[in-house]
Amino acid sequence: MSGTAQIGVTGLAVMGRNLARNFARNGFTVAVHNRTTAKTDALVEDFGDEGTFVPAHTPEEFVAALERPRRLVIMVKAGEPTDAVIKEFAPLLEEGDVVIDGGNAHFEDTRRREKELREQGIHFVGVGISGGEEGALNGPSIMPGGSEESYASLGPMLEKIAAKAKDGTPCTTHIGPDAAGHFVKMVHNGIEYADMQLIAEAYHLLRAVAGYSPAQIADTFRSWNTGRLDSYLIEITAEVLAHTDAATGSPFVDVVQDRAEQKGTGRWTVQIALDLGVPVSGIAEAVFARSLSGHADLREAARGLPGPSAAPLGTEEAAAFADRVEQALYASKIVSYTQGFHQIRAGSETYDWDIDLGAVASIWRAGCIIRAAFLDRIRAAYDSRPDLLSLLSDQQFADEIGAAQDDWRTVIAEAVRQGVPTPGFAAALSYYDGLRADRLPAALTQGQRDFFGAHTYRRTDRDGSFHTLWGGDRSEVPAG
Ligand code: 6PG
Repeated sequence: MSGTAQIGVTGLAVMGRNLARNFARNGFTVAVHNRTTAKTDALVEDFGDEGTFVPAHTPEEFVAALERPRRLVIMVKAGEPTDAVIKEFAPLLEEGDVVIDGGNAHFEDTRRREKELREQGIHFVGVGISGGEEGALNGPSIMPGGSEESYASLGPMLEKIAAKAKDGTPCTTHIGPDAAGHFVKMVHNGIEYADMQLIAEAYHLLRAVAGYSPAQIADTFRSWNTGRLDSYLIEITAEVLAHTDAATGSPFVDVVQDRAEQKGTGRWTVQIALDLGVPVSGIAEAVFARSLSGHADLREAARGLPGPSAAPLGTEEAAAFADRVEQALYASKIVSYTQGFHQIRAGSETYDWDIDLGAVASIWRAGCIIRAAFLDRIRAAYDSRPDLLSLLSDQQFADEIGAAQDDWRTVIAEAVRQGVPTPGFAAALSYYDGLRADRLPAALTQGQRDFFGAHTYRRTDRDGSFHTLWGGDRSEVPAG
């Protein structure tokens, strides 16, 4: 027997609860289930007037409440808890049913689960959901993977509950088969880390070199937010910086311990990028900066090491410096997105996902944490040239980064001179200079590898691989 609920959500912690409410508010009948039944009852009690909920106290009741083919969203912790829920529900499901994992799962887990459930005729859809609690309730950016067939059944519902870009486009699309959605969500989070690190470096420079107070920096970010840096992260940065701690009357940012934590998705992005051979140096520096900040013991031991202390500039120079920081931030941001999109392209090629990069940029325009006006231009760049090798090959971005580069270099040079760490800005500039270089010292690296390990090298003037007899007469021989 099949029920009446068009969708079900199991796992009613704040993200699951808000997602269930979002479906209900959009007119869908939603079955809700949680291991602790009190949470199910509380949801219906507190929000029952927002739409039609069907509370279920057991997995059997939950499955029976769903219309067929069933659509069942799992909103539990990534990793083992997700496997446990799948194990519990899979025997109750039938061919054609769609199981949706809305957590921040590792895409390799999603590939495994998709394959296992496919063998039972069940569609497994790994869905990246971004936007935090607020997004889940009012419209997140949604990145579903899985089969075409599952998107045909689920897509229209997701399009309804997703955030809408300014032009009205829903911020969801079928990303690609199996784990494509979770992979794209992972890279989204990697870019989120890089964006946050770059903003933090801009703040640090404005504080230490320009000599601005947190409140002044909040104003600076607010004004940047009216221009090309217009984004959610810049907006909330201004809010955080303007906040005063009630207990001490100090700026909030001064009473928070300077140790950044992480749940792991940024780290995954870097680990996978290493496997794919994609240089995501900006994301890597962001992950490392968080980990460096957390090593309290190392930092304490190193506190007295020699080096300059930043000496704030005078008022006029400070204002000019702040403008330069905006240029450096924007140029570095272009590089972060260039690297992130490269990783998505590489993942898509490796796993045969056929991901439309313009569509990814499009669904990141609203709802998600990295939403930014600038994504509309990335969308346009990929829409006009889907084969675009790199964002830096787009004329508009190339022109902008070219125009910013003098200030970008000046800011980094000043940071180095004054001893302010800017790993994100510097890595981004090195990536840019590395890519545009006529010749790289990689030729020397090849020579060294050939010297100590006979690893061979290629020549600029002839095809084939070669080895120099370094230990002998240093003549060159063709290699394998
Ligand atoms: C989102 C966020 C979300 C989560 C981050 C936090 O897109 O809504 O990315 O998924 O808040 O994963 O990450 P850290 O705890 O690792 O900073």
